[in-house]
Amino acid sequence: MRQTLSYQIYFFWGLLPFCVLCTFSANKCTVKHEVADCSHLKLNQVPDDLPTNITVLNLTHNQFRRLPPANFTRYSQLTILDGGFNTISKLEPELCQNLPLLKVLNLQHNELSQLSDKTFIFCRSLTELHLMSNSIQKIQNNAFKNLKNLIKLDLAHNGLSSTKLGTDLQLENLQELLLSNNKIHALRREELHFLGNSSLKKLDLSSNQIKEFSPGCFHAIGKLFGLFLNNAQLGFSLTEKLCLELSNTSIRNLSLSNNQLYRISNLTFLGLKETNLTMLDLSYNNLNMIANNSFAWLPHLKYFILENNNIEHLSSRSFYGLFSVRYLSLKRSFTKQSASLSSLPKIDDFSLQWLKHLEYLNMEDNDLPGINSNMFTGLTNLKYLRLSNSFKSLQTLTNETFVSLAQSPLLLLNLTRNKITKIKSGAFFWLGYLKVLDLGINSIEQELTGQEWRGLGNIIEIYLSYNRYLQLTSDSFALVPSLQQLMLRRVACKNVDISPSPFRSLRNLTILDLSNNNIANINSEMLEGLGKLEILNLQHNNLARLWKHANPGGPVYFLKGLSHLRILNLESNGFDEIPEEIFKDLSELKSIDLGLNNLNILPPSVFDNQISLKSLNLQKNLITSVEKDVFGPPFKNLSNLDMRFNPFDCTCESIAWFVNWINGTHTNITGLPESYLCNTPPQYHGFPVTLFDVSACKDSAPFELLFIINTSILLIFIFSVLLIHFEGWRISFYWNVSVHRILGFKEIDRQPEQFDYAAYVIHAYKDRDWVWQHFSPMEEKDESLRFCLEERDFEAGVLELEAIVKSIQRSRKVIFVITQHLLKDPLCKRFKVHHAVQQAIEQNLDSIILIFLEEIPDYKLNHALCLRRGMFKSRCILNWPVQKERISAFHHKLQVALGSRNSVH
Ligand SMILES: *[C@@H]1O[C@H](CO)[C@@H](O)[C@H](O)[C@H]1NC(C)=O
Ligand SMILES: *[C@@H]1O[C@H](CO)[C@@H](O)[C@H](O)[C@H]1NC(C)=O
Ligand SMILES: *[C@@H]1O[C@H](CO)[C@@H](O)[C@H](O)[C@H]1NC(C)=O
Ligand SMILES: *[C@@H]1O[C@H](CO)[C@@H](O)[C@H](O)[C@H]1NC(C)=O
Ligand SMILES: *[C@@H]1O[C@H](CO)[C@@H](O)[C@H](O)[C@H]1NC(C)=O
Ligand SMILES: *[C@@H]1O[C@H](CO)[C@@H](O)[C@H](O)[C@H]1NC(C)=O
Ligand SMILES: *[C@@H]1O[C@H](CO)[C@@H](O)[C@H](O)[C@H]1NC(C)=O
Ligand SMILES: *[C@@H]1O[C@H](CO)[C@@H](O)[C@H](O)[C@H]1NC(C)=O
Repeated sequence: MRQTLSYQIYFFWGLLPFCVLCTFSANKCTVKHEVADCSHLKLNQVPDDLPTNITVLNLTHNQFRRLPPANFTRYSQLTILDGGFNTISKLEPELCQNLPLLKVLNLQHNELSQLSDKTFIFCRSLTELHLMSNSIQKIQNNAFKNLKNLIKLDLAHNGLSSTKLGTDLQLENLQELLLSNNKIHALRREELHFLGNSSLKKLDLSSNQIKEFSPGCFHAIGKLFGLFLNNAQLGFSLTEKLCLELSNTSIRNLSLSNNQLYRISNLTFLGLKETNLTMLDLSYNNLNMIANNSFAWLPHLKYFILENNNIEHLSSRSFYGLFSVRYLSLKRSFTKQSASLSSLPKIDDFSLQWLKHLEYLNMEDNDLPGINSNMFTGLTNLKYLRLSNSFKSLQTLTNETFVSLAQSPLLLLNLTRNKITKIKSGAFFWLGYLKVLDLGINSIEQELTGQEWRGLGNIIEIYLSYNRYLQLTSDSFALVPSLQQLMLRRVACKNVDISPSPFRSLRNLTILDLSNNNIANINSEMLEGLGKLEILNLQHNNLARLWKHANPGGPVYFLKGLSHLRILNLESNGFDEIPEEIFKDLSELKSIDLGLNNLNILPPSVFDNQISLKSLNLQKNLITSVEKDVFGPPFKNLSNLDMRFNPFDCTCESIAWFVNWINGTHTNITGLPESYLCNTPPQYHGFPVTLFDVSACKDSAPFELLFIINTSILLIFIFSVLLIHFEGWRISFYWNVSVHRILGFKEIDRQPEQFDYAAYVIHAYKDRDWVWQHFSPMEEKDESLRFCLEERDFEAGVLELEAIVKSIQRSRKVIFVITQHLLKDPLCKRFKVHHAVQQAIEQNLDSIILIFLEEIPDYKLNHALCLRRGMFKSRCILNWPVQKERISAFHHKLQVALGSRNSVH
């Protein structure tokens, strides 16, 4: 007892240092490829045990108040030091001195307020300096002067009241200066003078309440290519002022998002005339009015963003001058302001005619009333037109609707969510180049005659999913044989089973989506000839009947010939049967989804041709067993398996192979183990399949063999015992007979005259009266018939054994008169019977005649005399009749028995 206690103590003390180590290492930085990550460790001292050759040190989200330069001497290889999200309030110049290779210094979200001339004096290699979200209000003199290689300086979210970061020219390599979210109210020439040698790609002054642009402020900057002034509440007049200040600068990108620019006049952008502006962002301005010729000053503009405004009216000259625009976003630009219908925004005919180079036009999510006949006229380079949810209600598309696009080389037209109800013949006649047409999520309800697609000679994709009602005809897609993708999801698709099939001309079709249509009838020719089909979606239909063996005409093999099919979705169809050959042609199948059906037993080898399958989904079926002959081939190369929520039968036969496979596979099995539970047998109900103990089944194959051999032996043994028990006498008897025959005791076929007696009669002494009474009359009748009767023919009734033997030998037959008395007669038992039988065996089985005077069961006969009825021919077994009238028949039978030759033939 004491010893165990001391062991426990040893154990405890032995573990203690290990635990200390644990907690210590839990607080440790991770080092990988010369990058040390010490973030989120509550550190307030720089670790001194990191490899000295690290180049990146991440100290973010700790409790540093300072970064003592001395502690960095060992990390002189650092190029990136991230000290963000601490409470550092002071920075010492020696830090950079000790880190001569430092390129990136990040100190965002700290408490720096003072930067002196000396702070960055040794940071000559620095290319990025992040000081965002500190409390810097003023930069003394020339804090950044030595940062000759600095490319990016982030001073956003500080308290700076001026752009002035220095007095001398400096930062000649700076490309990005981020000053958003400060307290800058004015841009003054002298306060930007320090950038006189810089070429800024991006100057971000967003979220500053700028009220003043002093003359020449932007000209103070060496070159300014990008100015971001979002969220600055510039309004109408300051915007105009700004643009005037930008005149003759190298400005290219100007972002003025969210500036309360409610209207634009023909002078607002005048100042930009003398620029090469290519990008203008005017989004989120509540822009309502655009005067004619407002953008006439922007002939170089390529990207124009007018998203999220309230433009009421676009007139034919609103966009005048935008000759170079390639990309125009008018997404949510024309939204209805008031509820009254009369104030719907309006786009005049020919409004877009100036945009000769426009390639991409986005007009999504607007409240436009409709498409007028010259709405898109002049867009001679338009390739992509997004009109999703653009119109209050488009209703019917006629052959006039898109006439204004006749000159556009349109490749994509997106018309989703426009409440379209009908497509008339030739609606897209003008769009001969169109490759993609999206008509999804509308209210189309009609029969597709095929004329709808007239003119779409180059179409590749048609999306019709989510419409009200589409009735197909044999010609629905006859005019668009170039189609490769056809989406007909949830369109209450009718008539897919017509012949010829609506899809027969789509020889290049690779994707067909017919899901969510509640289709119950399809025929085997529906997909005939679609040899290029790669993806087929048939989920959420009602196809169960088609695979039933009981289906009139047998199962419908609608997948035959789809030799390039890669993805097949048949989820939620109510399938409870799978024909064995259904997937036979689909040798390139990569993914099959049969989830949410009622499948229980899958035919063996149903997936035999799916050896390259990557994903198999059989979740929520009624599968009880997962056996090798079904799942062996498809599991070979599988990367994803989903068989969740099946009622698995956790017995060796049903599940052992599966569990073994799970344990050995790298396949990603969704929901393992919690969604794979045993249903049967009852004692395992609710158990995870993975806990099933396969060891009990492990050697089941050899055991099975052993079992079979064992039972066979046992059965043979039992059979033999029973046989010997019940029929043993027969075997030994016939064995004896055979042996004698083989050993040459040839049947002695003596002639009747060679015998003295016709028969030797063996009977019990007590039966002598009956014998006498019945045998002597027979002798009297027939002179040649003579029996050897012991009572009469033996002298004085003395029974000499020798005499008996001799007499038997001299008799042609031996008659047993069998009664209960005979069975009890000792001499009979021991001797006579033996001799008679011996003779019979040696000569002939016919030579013994049994006469039963009473009913004696075979077992008693056997027990007493070692005789059985079965040893003798039936004609040699006679029963003394009870009825008198049958006695003559008995005599006849006896004569036949006596007369028969002692021969087997
Ligand atoms: C950095 O030092 C560690 C050990 O401190 C060493 O394993 C690693 O190879 C070194 N890396 C280089 C690039 O020298
Ligand atoms: C440092 O770690 C933080 C948080 O883990 C991460 O956001 C930041 O990007 C890292 N810094 C560097 C330079 O990798
Ligand atoms: C950091 O440097 C200070 C002296 O400047 C020293 O006292 C401290 O031990 C150092 N810490 C580490 C972790 O090296
Ligand atoms: C600007 O519009 C006014 C009328 O609103 C017009 O008088 C003036 O000529 C226009 N200026 C230019 C440059 O188009
Ligand atoms: C605009 O571009 C042209 C040609 O690239 C150039 O000659 C001109 O100087 C540029 N204008 C400005 C204001 O930078
Ligand atoms: C449009 O269809 C109507 C008949 O619906 C026809 O009369 C008219 O000529 C067609 N217009 C064009 C431009 O094809
Ligand atoms: C059409 O536009 C909708 C909404 O922006 C989008 O979800 C859909 O993917 C687009 N269709 C095509 C074919 O690009
Ligand atoms: C089908 O595709 C082939 C090869 O991509 C192409 O040559 C053929 O023109 C296409 N057929 C149609 C009707 O577009």
